[in-house]
Order: sequence, then C-alpha cells, then structure tokens
Amino acid sequence: MSKKVIAGNWKMNMDIPETVKLISGIKEALKNINNGAEAIVCPPFTSLETAYTLLKDSPIGLGAQNMYFEDSGAYTGEISAAMLKSVGCRYVILGHSERRTIFKESDETINKKVKKAHSSGLLPIFCIGETLEEREKGITFDVIRTQLSGGLKDVSPAELEKTIIAYEPVWAIGTGKVATPEQAQEVHAFIRGWIKENYPSVNAKEIVIQYGGSVKPDNAKELLSQPDIDGALVGGACLKADSFAGIISAC
Ligand code: 13P
Repeated sequence: MSKKVIAGNWKMNMDIPETVKLISGIKEALKNINNGAEAIVCPPFTSLETAYTLLKDSPIGLGAQNMYFEDSGAYTGEISAAMLKSVGCRYVILGHSERRTIFKESDETINKKVKKAHSSGLLPIFCIGETLEEREKGITFDVIRTQLSGGLKDVSPAELEKTIIAYEPVWAIGTGKVATPEQAQEVHAFIRGWIKENYPSVNAKEIVIQYGGSVKPDNAKELLSQPDIDGALVGGACLKADSFAGIISAC
C-alpha cells in the first residue's frame, strides 16, 4: 500500500458557518500538497450537505461518523445508509470507540452496520482498539481479534477489500498520549496477519489500516513511515485546516 489515506473525524464539532470556513481552509491548504495522499473529511450529519456542496469538484472524500443498519422506519434519531448516500457520502466511520463506550454499541451491532454499509455502496472506516486497562492486562491482541472477528463476521473478501480498518487505541484518543510508532506498528502487523489468515484470497497488503489517537503534524511522519500504517484517522488536529493539511503533507 503506497497511497496513504488520511481521514478527519470532526466528532460533534462545527456548525454550518464553521463548516464552510474549515472546508474552504482545507481546500486552500491542500492545493499546494501533491503527494498522492487521499484526504477524507467526516463532519457531523448536519454539515454533510454543506460539505458536499463545497467538495463536489474536489478530490477530498466525504464521510459520515455513524449510521443505523435498518433501511427506514421508526428509529427516532437515526440516519440510514441511503440517506448518507443521498447527501453525497462515500465513507462512513463505524464502531468508533466513543460509539462503543458512550453509546454501548456491540460488535454485533457494528457488524450489522458494516454489512449494511457495504450492501448500500458505502465504504466503512471500521474502528477497533483496546482500552488502557486491556493493554495493561496484556490482552490487546485478544481484544483486537475479537473486534475483528465480531465486526467483520460474514463480510465477504470483496467487501473486505472495500473496508478501511482504523486502529485507535482508546488510551491515545484525545489524550495527547500517542502510541509510539513501534506500539502502533505491532498492532497493525497483527491486524494484517489476521487478514492474511482469515481472508487468504485477499491481498492483505492492499487493505488500508489507519492509525488514530492524538495524531498531529509533528508525530505523523514517524507513524506513517511504519510499514503497516497506511494512513491516519484524526480527531482534534483535523479541526484546523493547517494542522489537517500538515498531517497530509507528512505522508
Ligand atoms: P484525537 O486525534 O483527538 O486523539 O482523536 C482520534 C479519534 O478518535 C479519531 O477518530
């Protein structure tokens, strides 16, 4: 995998005027960066249409941060895959640790969402990662294995090829405590090994595995130069055009 993929997860930030400002700033800042890296922005639902309109003619991809697995009906507060498609999304983040912990999403729920995204033509950015407690107990690989096999259950090889996997150690999210390049690489290599073992027909090297957790312009280069780190899923640092562009230029 030579082309890096950098996605910005805006989380619950940015109203419409702020969205216009940030997208315009990102477009401007990326004009001067030509290293082949792919950029994706994932604003909140309320900003998707505005973002789509501003990004229509640009190479920057658009993604949502969540969706529900049913097609339509009495699911107050939820958004369907078809709705995301209709507003111009190509990607959807699924299974983010904040969804898992705050909103109690299980591997089974996330699996339903991943399958629905695929059957609807959306590309999932499927997130996994261990907590600090799990790391300290020495069960990181068990946790990752369970999340992979649960979240990707019955996902076909062709669908896996269209899945971005994001490894986000929970202890590194929003804490400023970034995983060392060695710590991240070790888990990325484990994930790639899991793919080889469970999807022998898939070229595991082609699957994009992003790292997420306190990625900033000044640590991006070292992380992204690890052999199994194919990109980044960025939180805090994607809310400023300069720092998001700084990460992309580190590719
Ligand atoms: P931070 O970059 O703010 O640590 O967030 C990472 C993240 O959760 C991206 O999905």
